[in-house]
Amino acid sequence: MGTMETAEAHTAVHAAAHTAAHTSAVPDALPLTLDYPVFCAVGTRQHLAAIVQQVAPAHRIAVISDDTVAAVHAPQVMAQFEGSTASLFTIPPGEQEKTRERWASLTDALMAWGAGRDTTIVALGGGVICDLSGFVAATYMRGLPVVQVPTTLLAMVDASVGGKTAVDTPAGKNLVGAFHNPAAVVIDPEVLTSLPPAILRSGLAEMIKHGVIADVAYFDRLLQALPSLLARGAQAPEFGALIAGSVRIKAAVVAEDSREGGLRQILNFGHTIAHAVEKLLHYDMLHGDAVAMGMVAEARLAERLGMAGPGLAAAVEDAVRRAGLPTRLPVGVSAASVVAETLGDKKARAGAARYALPRALGEMDPADGRWSVPVADPIVMEVLAGLL
Ligand code: GLY
Repeated sequence: MGTMETAEAHTAVHAAAHTAAHTSAVPDALPLTLDYPVFCAVGTRQHLAAIVQQVAPAHRIAVISDDTVAAVHAPQVMAQFEGSTASLFTIPPGEQEKTRERWASLTDALMAWGAGRDTTIVALGGGVICDLSGFVAATYMRGLPVVQVPTTLLAMVDASVGGKTAVDTPAGKNLVGAFHNPAAVVIDPEVLTSLPPAILRSGLAEMIKHGVIADVAYFDRLLQALPSLLARGAQAPEFGALIAGSVRIKAAVVAEDSREGGLRQILNFGHTIAHAVEKLLHYDMLHGDAVAMGMVAEARLAERLGMAGPGLAAAVEDAVRRAGLPTRLPVGVSAASVVAETLGDKKARAGAARYALPRALGEMDPADGRWSVPVADPIVMEVLAGLL
């Protein structure tokens, strides 16, 4: 049970005196073609209140976070909202919290607090908090503005940008959700210093994905930087530019197809297999780790189908291995069980799972504008059998 239902957990701030944060200069946003600004620079989180004031001024600010992230970042964030009516709502950490039940308890807590349509939500956390808070924002009184403040690498380069919000259900991941663009995204690479190395590393998977699907030069740059990223972690000087590069790739895709009618499906490379494996493991696997292994599988699938030339799968596998991420199915997970799970995927149509597949590094197969293809189960089985 989260702490949000208890009155003590509400850090309500009504002080009127201190308004320094509201007068601080808002930094430049990245030059993107999105309808909302994405800020990405060291120190940007210090300007959060000023950014909220600029993009979504509100009577009340509801900051949603998890207990782990809040312990590290909430004091600094809440202090910025002195002078506003602001409150912190926290839930326990973990993918198992991304449920309809948690959505219900959060919305109930917001109602008990008196949140109305003049409230802005600030989502402070990793992918789970991005998706869950986004869904709360999308649905609360038919929609509140949300400012995403991602605190994990994965959330910075993927979950916080693009407006996908969702909760998981026992039938699968992200099966209930809505498209709801953020009012702004505030990325501060400095917050990565508080991340455990395994969680930081897991985020590299989505960066590799962005290179594979759209930009071979970015893929090469990332590969070159990997030794430094792994050795120095968040202190690596390359991180800021690489995060911005990844956001640029994702933004270009979602700007063209925000509701996943076509092109946006390329962002699902690696994800059909990843989601199936995550579900089989009851989400007890880092999403990025699952995507890493899923990309290896799906790159092999692309080659096996003749959609990609020889060498593509080896290049993807090499990148994943060099990032220290898994290249094989987890122990105890059978190829048959993964194939069975893929049929419950959101992308499945007419009973067949669909895959967004690359035809070369930096280039996805357009599949006549559908950007994903069905693949017969025996072929998927054969490929997965090679990854045991
Ligand atoms: N994470 C995939 C997407 O945003 O479409």
